[in-house]
Amino acid sequence: MDTSSNEIWMNASNYDDWETSRPLLFRDDMREMFFKWFRVTSSDQVLDCGCGTGVLTRFIAKGLYNGFITGFDLSRHFVDYGNVKIKEEGLDDKARILREDGYNLSFDDNSFDVIVNHAYLGVLSDNVAGLKEMIRVCKHGGHVSASVSARSFPKINWDGDCPFPYRDQLNELLEKQERIYQKITTFSVLKQDSSWNVMRFPKMFSMCGLKNITFHPYASGFSYSDSYWPDDFKKYLIKTGVGREIEILEQERENPLYAENHFTNEEFNELIHLYNLKQDHLIENINNHENWDWNASMHYIVTGTKP
Ligand SMILES: C[S@@+](CC[C@H](N)C(=O)[O-])C[C@H]1O[C@@H](n2cnc3c(N)ncnc32)[C@H](O)[C@@H]1O
Repeated sequence: MDTSSNEIWMNASNYDDWETSRPLLFRDDMREMFFKWFRVTSSDQVLDCGCGTGVLTRFIAKGLYNGFITGFDLSRHFVDYGNVKIKEEGLDDKARILREDGYNLSFDDNSFDVIVNHAYLGVLSDNVAGLKEMIRVCKHGGHVSASVSARSFPKINWDGDCPFPYRDQLNELLEKQERIYQKITTFSVLKQDSSWNVMRFPKMFSMCGLKNITFHPYASGFSYSDSYWPDDFKKYLIKTGVGREIEILEQERENPLYAENHFTNEEFNELIHLYNLKQDHLIENINNHENWDWNASMHYIVTGTKP
């Protein structure tokens, strides 16, 4: 078994990546749909694998009646942070997060009614071993799911009627940086299995013996003009979400492969400068309901039953 991906995740602590992006996917007004597609009922014992800070864990906990959800993650930082969030949200009678290695879970065979995850199986260096371990701890007749996002799924961006004035320069530089990122950040750099890329997960589910397999594509989307989201959350996204993009660029610029691929330090300076301007623009326009820009991306859920 190739467990090399554990080196990457063992000490991960990028909390904001999940706390800012995942609420856009797991929306309270979509819980019923997720329960249906994951095949969760409100009295189930559920396991959320590689749960990070537990955004999906808490989302499912809120829909449980006398069921319980256990999340697990390899990173002690995520586990500690996630358990604090569970307590803060008053969910400790419905959820907990444990530190576990998904290649070698401490749970008995046939322990859970439903096993879920989002963006976990795909980060593993041995996807099949990770899935087989999920199936091992699922009860016979229980259900195993993966919710999947892929960079190669097209993203929709609509710039709205009074967009950020430097959007063309920003988009052009971002596209260039993203092209180089895709080139230098290979499966082997990420220590991910390239043979079972996420598009092939439905096939992997059937190959691992799951039956009654279903495939449900879904979208997530966001607009700063959408009244669904409270202003506090929008401000959090602007400060922390856009702030995190800037932080990632600061880290990426240290990688000499960018210069080798003709993305210069000056271009990093310009990109970071434009992001700072965009942050100011978004804050200034937070109550400008004329500005209907929005973006959306695609994901899917694959689910199978353990015979
Ligand atoms: C892309 S993140 C997704 C986090 C979370 N599921 C979400 O979508 O918000 C992948 C997660 O898998 C965890 N992970 C990676 N390998 C693992 C392993 N062998 N056992 C447990 N967790 C693991 C990482 O620590 C990380 O939190």
